[in-house]
Amino acid sequence: MKKICIIGISGKLGRYMLQHALDRGYEVVGVCREKSAKKLTAFKDRITLYTGKTNDREVIKQAVAGCDGVLTVLVPWGVQQYSAGTAQAVLDYAPPHARLIFSCGWHITLDGQDTYSRSFRMFLAFATWLARLLRFADIDDQVEACRRIFASDRRWTVVRGSDLQEGPSQGLPVWSRHIGDPILQSNLTRRIDFALFMVAALEDDTLIHEAPAIVGCQTPSALAHAPEMPSKPLIHPIQPTSN
Ligand SMILES: NC(=O)c1ccc[n+]([C@@H]2O[C@H](COP(=O)([O-])OP(=O)(O)OC[C@H]3O[C@@H](n4cnc5c(N)ncnc54)[C@H](OP(=O)(O)O)[C@@H]3O)[C@@H](O)[C@H]2O)c1
Repeated sequence: MKKICIIGISGKLGRYMLQHALDRGYEVVGVCREKSAKKLTAFKDRITLYTGKTNDREVIKQAVAGCDGVLTVLVPWGVQQYSAGTAQAVLDYAPPHARLIFSCGWHITLDGQDTYSRSFRMFLAFATWLARLLRFADIDDQVEACRRIFASDRRWTVVRGSDLQEGPSQGLPVWSRHIGDPILQSNLTRRIDFALFMVAALEDDTLIHEAPAIVGCQTPSALAHAPEMPSKPLIHPIQPTSN
C-alpha cells in the first residue's frame, strides 16, 4: 500500500492519523474544509490537500482517485446527512481494491449484540434530542452512514471509539466485537492511539467487515482481560483421506 487519503484530515483525529501515516511512509492526500487548511500549514509540503466539505462528492472523487486506502472521520454535523453523504461518496468512488477505514463511536452496532448501560442509553438519547433540536448535529446520520457501509461489499472496517483523552501514545488499543464485553469496561482511549488503530487497520485484513470497539491497551479492563481478544475462526486445512 502506497497512497492513502484522509477525509477530515484537519481535525484532531485526522492530524494524528496524518502523522502516523507519514511515519509509515505513505503518500498522503487529504480533504478538509477550506477554512481549516491553515491547521495543516506545518505539513503543506508533505501532503496533497483538497479543500471542500467532506460530503462534496466531486471533491471526494478527486481525492480518493488512485488511493490504496481511505481513512474517513465520520462526523454528524448539521442536519443535511453530512456523515451519510461522506460515507456514500467514499463507497462510490474509492478504487475497488482500496481498504476503507471509518471512525465512529460506541453507539454504532453492527449486529445488534452490543449491551449498553442505562446511563449510556440515557445520555445518547438526550444528546441526540438536543443536537437535533439545536440543528447542529444529527447523531442518527452517523447511524445511517454505518448502515450503508455495513451493507456494502467494499473492503471496510468501522472503528468504534470509546471516550477519548489526550496524552502520549500508550500503544495499539485492544478491541472487542461487542460493547458490554469486560475488556472494554474502562471506556477510555488516547486519541493518538485511536488514530494508530485506524492507520494500522489499513494493513490488517483480519479486520475487513469488522466493527472493532476499541479501548486503550493500558487501561485496567484491557490489562485484566487482554487474552479475550477476538480472532477470526480458524479454517483447518482438509486432511487427505487414506484409501
Ligand atoms: N470525541 C469523542 O469523545 C469521541 C468518542 C468516540 C468516538 N469519536 C469519533 O472520533 C472521530 C473524531 O472525533 P473527534 O471528537 O476526535 O473530533 P475531530 O477529530 O476533531 O474531528 C472533527 C471533524 O469534524 C470537522 N468539523 C467540525 N465542525 C464541523 C462543521 N461545523 N461542519 C463540518 N465539519 C466540521 C472537523 O473539521 P475542521 O478541521 O474543518 O473543523 C474534523 O474533521 C469521530 O468519528 C467521532 O465519532 C469521538
